[in-house]
Amino acid sequence: LANGLGVTPPMGWNSWNHFSCNINEKVIKETADALVTTGLSKLGYNYVNIDDCWAELARDAKGNLVPKKSTFPSGIKALADYVHSKGLKLGIYSDAGYLTCSKTMPGSLGHEEQDAKTFAEWGIDYLKYDNCNTDGTRPTVRYPVMTQALMKSGRPIFHSLCEWGDMHPALWGSPLGNSWRTTIDINDSWLSMIANADMNEIYAEHARPGGWNDPDMLEVGNGGMTKDEYIVHFSIWAISKAPLLLGCDIRNMTKETMEIVANQEVIAINQDSLGVQAKKARMEGDIQIWAGPLSGYRVALLLLNRGPTRLSITAFWDDIEIPPNSIVEARDLWEHKTLKQKFLGNLTATVDSHACKLYVLKPVA
Ligand code: DGJ
Repeated sequence: LANGLGVTPPMGWNSWNHFSCNINEKVIKETADALVTTGLSKLGYNYVNIDDCWAELARDAKGNLVPKKSTFPSGIKALADYVHSKGLKLGIYSDAGYLTCSKTMPGSLGHEEQDAKTFAEWGIDYLKYDNCNTDGTRPTVRYPVMTQALMKSGRPIFHSLCEWGDMHPALWGSPLGNSWRTTIDINDSWLSMIANADMNEIYAEHARPGGWNDPDMLEVGNGGMTKDEYIVHFSIWAISKAPLLLGCDIRNMTKETMEIVANQEVIAINQDSLGVQAKKARMEGDIQIWAGPLSGYRVALLLLNRGPTRLSITAFWDDIEIPPNSIVEARDLWEHKTLKQKFLGNLTATVDSHACKLYVLKPVA
């Protein structure tokens, strides 16, 4: 969507994966505080996104959305002011149906212009637009109405289409949104994470600056995967140019979680100016090689072991779009080391079960 937003994939936090409906203004404010005090905001995590369950079930007499009095007593405008005062941006959530998925608050169907205006007046910077409890018409009928309403609202608002991939939004989302979900909801498990990564990869050609494939929000730090599995999760999301929306409790992150999500070299791949999503370059049983071009003739390379035992994995230049006779320098982004050896034609590494190696390759001759 040509609203000037999402030139690189959005980064920030969303309430859903960890808090589900148990949100309130205190949690949102404390999360904003924590993004700053942990240093994460400096690394680019600047969206603070409220998901489902923030509004009263009934609109007011004029049809306006009303922030839930018991949990957001100060209102959303005050929250936006607070979040903005920290140098961050505030995101909100609605639905292209009569009710949101939780059924605890209204959707925006039939109220698109009014709600977009409300969001703009409150100072909202990002809208996640879900697809529950609709009138049965196609998303391609309902989503453009909100896009146009946002365009009219007078405020640039990042538009995240949350259609879950059923109707292949990668094929029609580009003029309507800055990102589109390609998958069903993630959960905090290896199988769910890998399934979403696979599904999202199919649409790689459709990602570009201003419009990104979205395999759903991060689960890193929520406890259901091993450290290596979370590293795989974060690495694939980064090279896939996926939104990096943290989904854990930022106020209580372990050192291990922080080490993963604050890896600046991995973030830099995600935010690379070329904006090209990595793809699977080779698959052999439990072995997968993912690669994608980066600015400056560099290539991001992921060696992934999806199986139960340690494996040796070799990537050949032929498979990853590096000229065959190039001599290449390799930077290991999780070891934070440039390897002493230079590589000609291929690179081999040993990779543990449910783990990966992530490199930036740079032809030097
Ligand atoms: C479905 C979406 O896919 C989730 O990310 C979340 O927003 C829930 N709805 C909220 O009800």
